[in-house]
Amino acid sequence: MPDTPPTLPPGLFSARDHERLAPQHIAPETLAYIEGGSGQEQTLRANRRAFERLEIVPRLLQDVRHGHTRLTLLGHALAHPILLAPVAHQKLVHPLGEIETARAATATDTCLVASTLSSCPLEDIAQHAAQRWFQLYWQRDRDTTLTLVQRAERAGYSALVLTLDASVQTPSPRALHAGFRFPDHAHAANLRGLPGPTLRPLREHDSAAFQGAMATAPRWDDLAWLRTQTHLPLIVKGVLRVDDALRLREQGVDGIVASNHGGRALDGAPASLSQLPALRQALGPDFPLLLDSGIRSGHDAFKALALGAHAVLIGRLQVHALAVGGALGVAHLLRTLREELELCMAQAGCATLTDITPDLVQPSPC
Ligand SMILES: Cc1cc2nc3c(=O)[nH]c(=O)nc-3n(C[C@H](O)[C@H](O)[C@H](O)COP(=O)(O)O)c2cc1C
Repeated sequence: MPDTPPTLPPGLFSARDHERLAPQHIAPETLAYIEGGSGQEQTLRANRRAFERLEIVPRLLQDVRHGHTRLTLLGHALAHPILLAPVAHQKLVHPLGEIETARAATATDTCLVASTLSSCPLEDIAQHAAQRWFQLYWQRDRDTTLTLVQRAERAGYSALVLTLDASVQTPSPRALHAGFRFPDHAHAANLRGLPGPTLRPLREHDSAAFQGAMATAPRWDDLAWLRTQTHLPLIVKGVLRVDDALRLREQGVDGIVASNHGGRALDGAPASLSQLPALRQALGPDFPLLLDSGIRSGHDAFKALALGAHAVLIGRLQVHALAVGGALGVAHLLRTLREELELCMAQAGCATLTDITPDLVQPSPC
């Protein structure tokens, strides 16, 4: 019998349809891990609310016949401003995990950010992703961290994305209540063979947060050291404050991702979209500034671009699409997001990304 070509389930008309269909393809406890936010999920809700409370006010009679979504970011030519955010443990939802996501990225001219905690080795992902950045989680010490950086360099990753908002992170209450546990096959392949955390046993009055998880977290001097260790562009993910953004730029960081980790880090943090205008104003028009957290459509991407992002990243939606249709699902998602963005641009009177200016959005009165 010949292999039947992969197909997509019916009913996929918008990017968000992947989210709607995901529960049919992901076990409930795994879905709880993917969907859940930290704490009371206040930040998770704030992310969506921030997009929903923004209206798009179109310009009429614009000539958009030369329209396109191309941009140059950190010296890289990108066909469109939608990137795949680093998402760990993708074998949770597909047996080939990140390899499928990478194939979809290449098929759709999308830049993929591979996670330190991917279930496939970063070298294997690199073979399938034409445009690739590596997301770095600080390890227990500088030497171990450098091992990952050098592996990423050797594998041809063209930027490093250092995530700083999740040094201490616990499973979401949603995942705990659903009884979620990591299966062995989804564990972090890149960390195999590396020395694990050296957490000393807590003493009687020690705190699990301060003396526990944060004991090996990076600090400003570690960032300065890291900057001297690589010639790759260094982007910091998880920035929500203007003072941090300015200090990061001063320390030689090349770009910033406004992000609250999709509501999975500090609960109570603001929506990253709400912080974007102040960050853009402080950093000036040209400093590379990206955003994630809460994007579910091309229209959401448009709103983020209008408020100052050069590009956006997609987290949960890519996991939904991977579960729904493997590489084909993720490629469909990315193509649909891009088409939604193009439609939104055309209807709003924008031929290029630079035409998407802040006056095109306003707070909704209701
Ligand atoms: C299941 C899951 C795993 C994630 N793993 C990582 C990771 O390994 N590294 C990282 O920097 N961010 C990680 N994130 C956060 C995403 O990169 C991104 O910031 C977030 O998902 C964006 O919000 P969204 O899901 O609403 O699009 C993860 C998010 C999810 C949902």
